[in-house]
Amino acid sequence: MNKPPQTSAAPPRHVAIIMDGNGRWAARRGLPRAAGHREGGKAVRRTIEAAIEHGVEWLTLFAFSSENWHRPQSEVSDLTRLLRRYLRSELKELEQGGIKLRVIGERDRFGPRLRAELAAAEERTRNNTKFNLVIALSYGSRAELVTAARRVAEAARAGQLDPATLDEASFAGYLATSGMPDPDLVIRTSGEQRLSNFLLWQAAYAELIFVEALWPDFGAAHFAAALADYAGRERRFGVRPTTDTAEPGGAHH
Ligand code: IPE
Ligand code: IPE
Ligand code: MG
Repeated sequence: MNKPPQTSAAPPRHVAIIMDGNGRWAARRGLPRAAGHREGGKAVRRTIEAAIEHGVEWLTLFAFSSENWHRPQSEVSDLTRLLRRYLRSELKELEQGGIKLRVIGERDRFGPRLRAELAAAEERTRNNTKFNLVIALSYGSRAELVTAARRVAEAARAGQLDPATLDEASFAGYLATSGMPDPDLVIRTSGEQRLSNFLLWQAAYAELIFVEALWPDFGAAHFAAALADYAGRERRFGVRPTTDTAEPGGAHH
């Protein structure tokens, strides 16, 4: 008999989530979109707790994309206001819960108040080691890759880098995610099945799971179900599993 396919017994080390569907959640209730974003903050808290419980080490949450700046000004300011409020209400818990916060994205595009609060939150949690929470804010992969390319070119022009020595690992060091493990699992809520410019480089071999629930409805049960689904996936990284001696599709003979 053939051995079953190699599946991952270990939980994903890094889970990244595209938190989508806040607007639809609100619309279904006849509420303003901001109400959906506010409710989404509660799902963030539940998800952090679930991730810690499952032994995940890194959680990256896509909260605001580079392209989201093109939404109406009123929604952008609602979102930044809610972000500041979230930081204020959750910072103590992050700090005391051993959670280290890191923000990736073009934070310079935000106003000075939010920037200052983000910096303070990172500073206050910098020595925490229990869990890593990464929030992607004003983040877009293409912008990140262009910035990395610019920095590589500048280093080369300054004579600090020999272009011939640049490889995948050293290039990754120029990205916003420098020093972070790649995501093993990317979850997107609200039934949309696309990456929307999220971690394009880093998610090269991530497992993708699309969940129908809207982000404000997401909770521990959805997270557990996604991890169970992940546990049944066979990750190959382009390499044929060494335990599989059968022909492709040969599990049937
Ligand atoms: C996700 O919810 C939050 C952000 C993108 C900031 P949306 O605001 O995209 O909600 P839908 O997709 O319109 O339902
Ligand atoms: C992706 O959701 C960005 C975040 C969840 C922060 P969007 O709602 O902006 O993506 P599209 O427009 O549906 O692709
Ligand atoms: Mg959306």
